[in-house]
Amino acid sequence: MNNRCALAVLVSGSGSNLQALLDASAVPTFPAHVAVVLSNVPGVLALERARTAGVPTVVVPHQGAGDRGSYDEALVAALTPFQPDLVCLAGFMRLVGPRFLRAFPRGVLNIHPALLPSFPGLHAVRKALEHGVKVSGCTVHLVDEGTDTGPILAQAAVPVLDADTEATLSARIQAQEHRLYPLAVRLLAMGLVGRAGRRLLGGSGPESSALALLNPGTG
Ligand code: GRF
Repeated sequence: MNNRCALAVLVSGSGSNLQALLDASAVPTFPAHVAVVLSNVPGVLALERARTAGVPTVVVPHQGAGDRGSYDEALVAALTPFQPDLVCLAGFMRLVGPRFLRAFPRGVLNIHPALLPSFPGLHAVRKALEHGVKVSGCTVHLVDEGTDTGPILAQAAVPVLDADTEATLSARIQAQEHRLYPLAVRLLAMGLVGRAGRRLLGGSGPESSALALLNPGTG
């Protein structure tokens, strides 16, 4: 239990991805556990999900926190007592900066509801639908100083149907997000991820095979 990788999960809203990570953590053989949940917004459902799972929560409001560097400092100060190995952004609606990224050198992950590098930033599902793509999906990537520009760890694809609305496509993508994020965390926590330039390489173990199932054509 104690040698499992400690995760800090940062949220701003409903926390369905947090729930997927909490559910994965409840399995003793999962190589990571959620050590703390941090929200920039008080009273959100994600905080309730954490409390229900018995996980400590902290709220660090962004209003009045000053500039990006000061907010980074406040986030790092709030998380440090929990000694996270990895940070998972899960619907956290703030950008983190260099000061924050330096504090967590093993990795800061994000999940995005599109197949990056297409449709970074806000309203990704709406933008993909309006653009007319026939396939969309979700991406887990390492966070760098840009907006959704960091190296890609894992992706899952879903079809875009003629009858789709933003809500139906979002729901289809979220179902894949809830499978993909725990798998991506597992790969990183087990130290299975190699790197060649921007390319993150998943090795050849069973976890990689599971990821391949979510990535058509790679298995
Ligand atoms: C997810 O769709 C994720 O891709 C995006 O924000 C949403 C968060 O949803 N970054 P939830 O709070 O995990 O339900």
